[in-house]
Amino acid sequence: MKIVVLAGGLSPERDVSLSSGSLIANALMEKGHGVLLLDVYEGYQNTIHNMDDLFLYSKDGIKYHYTVSDIEPDLDAIKVKNNNQLAFIGPNVLDICGFADVVFMGLHGSIGENGSLQATFDNFNIKYTGTGYIGSLLAMDKDLSKRLFVQANIPTAEWILYDINENTIHDVKNTIGFPCVVKPCSCGSSIGVSIVKNLEELKTALSYAFKYETSVLIEKMINGREFSVGILNNKPLPVIEIIPTTGFYDYKNKYQSGLTSEICPADLSLELTRKVQEKALKVHKTLRLGGYSRIDFILDTKGEFICLEANTLPGMTPTSLIPQEAKCLGIEYNELCETIAMLPFNKNLKH
Ligand SMILES: Nc1ncnc2c1ncn2[C@@H]1O[C@H](COP(=O)(O)OP(=O)(O)O)[C@@H](O)[C@H]1O
Ligand SMILES: [Mg+2]
Repeated sequence: MKIVVLAGGLSPERDVSLSSGSLIANALMEKGHGVLLLDVYEGYQNTIHNMDDLFLYSKDGIKYHYTVSDIEPDLDAIKVKNNNQLAFIGPNVLDICGFADVVFMGLHGSIGENGSLQATFDNFNIKYTGTGYIGSLLAMDKDLSKRLFVQANIPTAEWILYDINENTIHDVKNTIGFPCVVKPCSCGSSIGVSIVKNLEELKTALSYAFKYETSVLIEKMINGREFSVGILNNKPLPVIEIIPTTGFYDYKNKYQSGLTSEICPADLSLELTRKVQEKALKVHKTLRLGGYSRIDFILDTKGEFICLEANTLPGMTPTSLIPQEAKCLGIEYNELCETIAMLPFNKNLKH
């Protein structure tokens, strides 16, 4: 099989994406596939004589390698390097992806996650991993996801969409109350998320969240243990519990090693395990997700699993949550990557 692992792009998470993209690419090569790791924004700028030659095999003895630097990538410098290219999809990307048998979506953030790239691929009849454009859009927009959760009887934290022209911080105090959680409507990685206890903190949190987006949600804070459940090929994986040493599962606790314990399988009764797995599958279906996804929950003090959100492009390094869950079932990282790459060939799995 010839597989393009598509990564990078112009989001602040481009480095993380290129680094996990390299690991996915190596895993697929070890499974015997021909692989090209391609940056969706930079594209392929050299002349292509023969498309076949672009793909690397393990017998070539080369491995992809990308180190994430300590500081966020300088997106302006990357634009300048690419002649200030305005298009998000770089030179030759569509042709190369069309030539490959399948595209492994290794992107994080905006263009990979909001469905627009998936819609473009559909129009070019290009096969890709994971969720299609409708599910990507529905899961990316937390307000839309939550409206569908309510409709499908999936418990979710009470919330308002904060409109800067209509709402005041006093409305929040009188409706949602404190403590509450302020979050941009369509970000990920806990970027722009704060938990606040009073009006003063709320003001700061709002201006922080509005830096990232013009739509901001304010949710009731749910007290309890946090869990995540992956779905692979329409079946739930084992449940994982997330326990940050301090505070909540924010950006730092997510990406700096040693700050959060992740326990898989989670220490839950069989009954609660089944309950949260069923809920995760219901979320996956309600939002029309495909292939694989990861759904986040908090178990509240009344024993109810409250759904926080669904992720259509969950982290895919060997130590990320879904690979840990798969490992509990004896599915090693290389095999997991290959399974995800092969799912788009299953006609029964609609996007
Ligand atoms: N309503 C809530 N109550 C308690 N904690 C929350 C709530 N919403 C979010 N959090 C915390 O913030 C983290 C990030 O929020 P989440 O909605 O999952 O957004 P993201 O897409 O950035 O991961 C969660 O993993 C959880 O630790
Ligand atoms: Mg989350």
